[in-house]
Amino acid sequence: MNALIIRTYLLGSLLAGASVSAQQAKPPPIAIHSVNVDLPASTASFPPGIGSDVAGKCLICHSAGMVLRQPPLSQDQWKAVINKMRSAYGAPILDTEVEPLAAYFTEVTKQRASQ
Ligand code: HEC
Repeated sequence: MNALIIRTYLLGSLLAGASVSAQQAKPPPIAIHSVNVDLPASTASFPPGIGSDVAGKCLICHSAGMVLRQPPLSQDQWKAVINKMRSAYGAPILDTEVEPLAAYFTEVTKQRASQ
């Protein structure tokens, strides 16, 4: 009876020892805390022109400023960007809207680059 108690005690302290060394081997816990970031508000909007109403659909995901700050692209390059937005990201732009939109962005980014 006594022997059983002693063995149980020994086993218990062995397990306790094992779990302590397992804890020591663990990397320190990662501290997760929240931070506040104030992003500048984007007040830019698309300049008026044919296609600017459809361009509003780009604002679902982007600010106007982000689109307008692109380097001046050719109309074909804009078409490729717009089609990428449709196929890769699901931008709800209709087939018939691609050409006028590409013309609009070609014009407004060219104007902006020359300012
Ligand atoms: C459904 C969301 C969505 C919509 C709507 C959308 N875009 Fe994008 N666009 C993205 C994402 C996501 C990226 C980032 C791609 C990357 O970082 O590779 C992006 C990137 C861009 C870029 C950076 C260059 C590039 O090819 O990655 C331009 C320019 C752009 N979009 C223009 C437009 C225009 C113009 C429209 C409207 C016709 C539009 N986007 C609509 C999601 C969208």
